[in-house]
Amino acid sequence: MNIDFSQPVNRWNTHSAKWDLLTQPYGKDAISLSVADMEFRTASPISQAICSAAELGCYGYTEVFEDFANTAVHWQIQRHNWSPDPSSVIFFPRVVQCLSSLLHSPIPYHTNHPPQLGTEHKNWRVSCLFPAYDPLIEVIELSDAQLIPVELVEEKGKYVIDFTVLRQALEKSDLFILCNPHNPTGRVWTSEELHCITKIAKETGTIIFSDDVHADFLRGVTHPYTPLASIAPDLWESGHIIHCASPGKTFNLAGLESTAIFSQGDTAKLLHKAKRAYGLHNPNYFAIPGAIAAWTYGEEYLEELLPYIDSNIGYTVNYFRTHLPRAIVYEPEGTYLVWIDLRSYISSAEDLTALMHKSKVVVSRGEDFGSRYLGYIRINTALPRTQLEEALSRLSAHLNP
Ligand SMILES: Cc1ncc(COP(=O)(O)O)c(C=O)c1O
Repeated sequence: MNIDFSQPVNRWNTHSAKWDLLTQPYGKDAISLSVADMEFRTASPISQAICSAAELGCYGYTEVFEDFANTAVHWQIQRHNWSPDPSSVIFFPRVVQCLSSLLHSPIPYHTNHPPQLGTEHKNWRVSCLFPAYDPLIEVIELSDAQLIPVELVEEKGKYVIDFTVLRQALEKSDLFILCNPHNPTGRVWTSEELHCITKIAKETGTIIFSDDVHADFLRGVTHPYTPLASIAPDLWESGHIIHCASPGKTFNLAGLESTAIFSQGDTAKLLHKAKRAYGLHNPNYFAIPGAIAAWTYGEEYLEELLPYIDSNIGYTVNYFRTHLPRAIVYEPEGTYLVWIDLRSYISSAEDLTALMHKSKVVVSRGEDFGSRYLGYIRINTALPRTQLEEALSRLSAHLNP
């Protein structure tokens, strides 16, 4: 395929959330390392599928057919060695909408502390690892669910789960949100860690919402990525795992809104109902052709993309360690994101705003991932190398005046 990822793409004036909304205050010469989408064109077979759908010129309602589920499963088998049944696939536009619609549904009776039969619906109790991807937290809070934060702990420069704290949280949770690979820390949970999680979930009856939208971005530096459901067939069969997969991150298709939610049994029934209750009937016109093309023809593109991202991540980690040695950089095992503790350089939200204005480099703010992460930043490395190099040198110049 020979894709040239070094070619810049101009996304200004495309109604881009990252550029036209979030970068606009910093000026047209700003560089954005924020929102988790990529500054690369998608694979040409995907663009062709979308263009040929566009050429029809007739954008009526569409539906989800078997080919969506079959290609979603095909991708899991091919890339992740997991073969769920196609009947377990439920189309949702977005992961965040799936979570939100679930939390507006009655709590199913197979969780640990179900409401008594015949009693009123009570609010969900949801535990989540922190730091956490903010829109998921927002829907938990806006749905009046009770949020039970589980802070990751640092061990030898790496974030790990404190399983005693996790157990205490899951004992009082109906749902646990796992993010694998984890945004923002870039951890890819080892199979030992996943086994510990499933052991606790089995004992507490908690449903696990496994948000694996970054699963295709693996650096292969240490251990492989494992879909949780593949190591806990009993939890999977009993409907205690909801697995989220999407071509959105992998192929830069987030704006198409196409997600495959995998689920079994009563939880699957609940999700089908929750989706209808939310009025999420038909997919966006381009969502299905885009996803099918991605999961059918996208592998070659991904194989070329991964070394480019890996090299950008390596460059970013080394750059900070060399030029900003007081920063603590958490080298990611997956995703294209790098999480950095910059507290020895900036001490307030205003400092970070000033840095972004002066350097004209936009990053994601640590406090968006949890209030205690003020002074941290998250950097998106999925952009042409020259732009990344320029952005890091501007940041360094203003942090090392
Ligand atoms: C961990 C994680 N989950 C979910 C999403 C968003 O998914 P969606 O657009 O399907 O709601 C993102 C986007 O950055 C993410 O990083």
